[in-house]
Amino acid sequence: MFIVFIGPPGAGKGTQAERLVEQLKIPHLSTGELLRAAIEDGSDLGRQAQSFMDGGQLVPDSLVLNLISERLDNPELSAGCLFDGFPRNVQQAGLLDQLLDHRNRPLDMVLELQVEDEELTRRLLARQRPDDTPDTIAERLRVYANQTAPVLEYYARQGKLSSIDGNGSPEDVFARAQEAVRQLTSS
Ligand code: AP5
Ligand code: MG
Repeated sequence: MFIVFIGPPGAGKGTQAERLVEQLKIPHLSTGELLRAAIEDGSDLGRQAQSFMDGGQLVPDSLVLNLISERLDNPELSAGCLFDGFPRNVQQAGLLDQLLDHRNRPLDMVLELQVEDEELTRRLLARQRPDDTPDTIAERLRVYANQTAPVLEYYARQGKLSSIDGNGSPEDVFARAQEAVRQLTSS
């Protein structure tokens, strides 16, 4: 099963993805985590990505797509995976469709986590990742509204979008995510 987790910064994509992959027994593919690992390793990719991430901007599509396409050829992903934080603009969504089509593995569903900006900011300021400063959080929220929100429309047109309330405890949100997946698999 191929699932995309989408939602603004701090919506709980990473938190919920961890639980869902354990249940569905599929790998978790977070572009944010892969990029942070590249920075940690001091690789060329990390060096190219860092200033974009520090400023809350999207890293150029070419860098992200290299990361993803390499991994899709890994046999571990043949049964599916959970994409977290990817795709993040309509261009990336189109390219993901192409990559999956080539492999005869269409995307099964897109799960959107909905949380208001005020709560997102509160969560992120409490966490303290390097890109969790007030200015960078505000920029990440702007980038989400301008570049990522149109991806929701893209998947809604394909009939693949399922939106859930991301408020409440992580347990409550997980119950909603499980229900959305259950509806898909029973339909
Ligand atoms: P990325 O790492 O994807 O960050 P993000 O989208 O900004 O989201 P976060 O990881 O901050 O939040 P999350 O939704 O995962 O929430 P989490 O579970 O951590 O991207 C970072 C950067 O990398 C981007 O800005 C960009 O530069 C670059 N990038 C990544 N992918 C890219 C792509 N495809 N293209 C181009 N550039 C890309 O939860 C947040 C906090 O809230 C945690 O402390 C958690 O404990 C807490 N929390 C979670 N759930 C709850 C709850 N229900 N109630 C209360 N607190 C909660
Ligand atoms: Mg995350």
